[in-house]
Amino acid sequence: MPEYFRSDLADKQPSVINVPVRPRMMCLNESCLDPYQAIKDQFLARMEKIRLNRYLSPVTAELHARLAAYASFGLEPENVVWGNGADDILYHVFLAVRENPASFAVSLAPSYFDYKTFCQAVGLGIRFCELREDFSFDTQAFLQLAKDPDCRLAILCNPNNPTGNLYDREQLRGIVDALPDKLVLVDETYFEFSGATLAAELARHPNLLLVRSFSKAFSGAGLRFGYAISSPEIIYSLRKVFTTFHTSILNQAFALIILENMALFQTQVEEIKSARTALYGQMQALPGVTVHPSSTNFLTFSVGERTPQLFAFLQEEGIAVRDVGAHRRLHKHLRVTVSCAEDNSAFLDALQLWLGE
Ligand SMILES: Cc1ncc(COP(=O)(O)O)c(C=O)c1O
Repeated sequence: MPEYFRSDLADKQPSVINVPVRPRMMCLNESCLDPYQAIKDQFLARMEKIRLNRYLSPVTAELHARLAAYASFGLEPENVVWGNGADDILYHVFLAVRENPASFAVSLAPSYFDYKTFCQAVGLGIRFCELREDFSFDTQAFLQLAKDPDCRLAILCNPNNPTGNLYDREQLRGIVDALPDKLVLVDETYFEFSGATLAAELARHPNLLLVRSFSKAFSGAGLRFGYAISSPEIIYSLRKVFTTFHTSILNQAFALIILENMALFQTQVEEIKSARTALYGQMQALPGVTVHPSSTNFLTFSVGERTPQLFAFLQEEGIAVRDVGAHRRLHKHLRVTVSCAEDNSAFLDALQLWLGE
């Protein structure tokens, strides 16, 4: 085939998700609440007033105001841009910061795998600062990488996926302070489960950009809705790489109805947090299981060298969890999404059964 595409894409694979599909999907940190079933009457009522034959809709302005109000800390619509999931926001940030082939981003490892996937897609390099054994990291090592003139972006995932831990607020603030000339992206996809956000820092730090998602706390993984909040200048610059009618009106209308039904999703988040505490305690009590504390809707754990056998056994039992063992820091580790009561107890029963074998 002639070389139609960028030469640096030659060795790249298309972005695909490789997870087992089983009746109990506990591998992608989704919610077990189907938002369509929960709020469809209001959504359908809203859709009666929406004209899908038009590019423009009053829903856009309403969503902008609601989303800014939800993100709080006195944010205005100019502080917010949304896209088709947090992934889409990440992709566009990477696209907007890349200067030349030497440009790179810096992130932690292990962290969200797709930072690398999307950096590669836009031709942005990526370098990693390794986490310590306890999942903390060395600020100076991170800053040394980030201060390189070719580093265009510092990425921190808080709480971190797939380790589940929350970083110290002062440590993160110190990094944003130390890099006034760099864009610092803090991925807060799991923020509702941790309650911790750097949003209060936005006013003092125009280089800070937060990325959030409706896929986890708002049960909308299939909806594809995520957003970024930052200074009006950063948001304005980011919008330059988005297409004009970037997200569907359907998508915007559904996101708006979710925000109008916030209480339902907040209750769901509280339930997941309680279930997480319970499951963590139950797993911790099992001999041979190492489970890490989590500020998210998942738990990362290991049963040592026999972890791959457990992974296979869970699949046989109809339970899909995620193998997160690719990075040596998480050697032989799995990640399970804290889900509905029925899935959580089926998972725990299967784990106990396997350990008892
Ligand atoms: C840390 C992190 N960032 C971003 C995403 C992508 O979220 P979305 O579904 O909103 O694209 C995920 C999804 O698992 C994630 O774990």
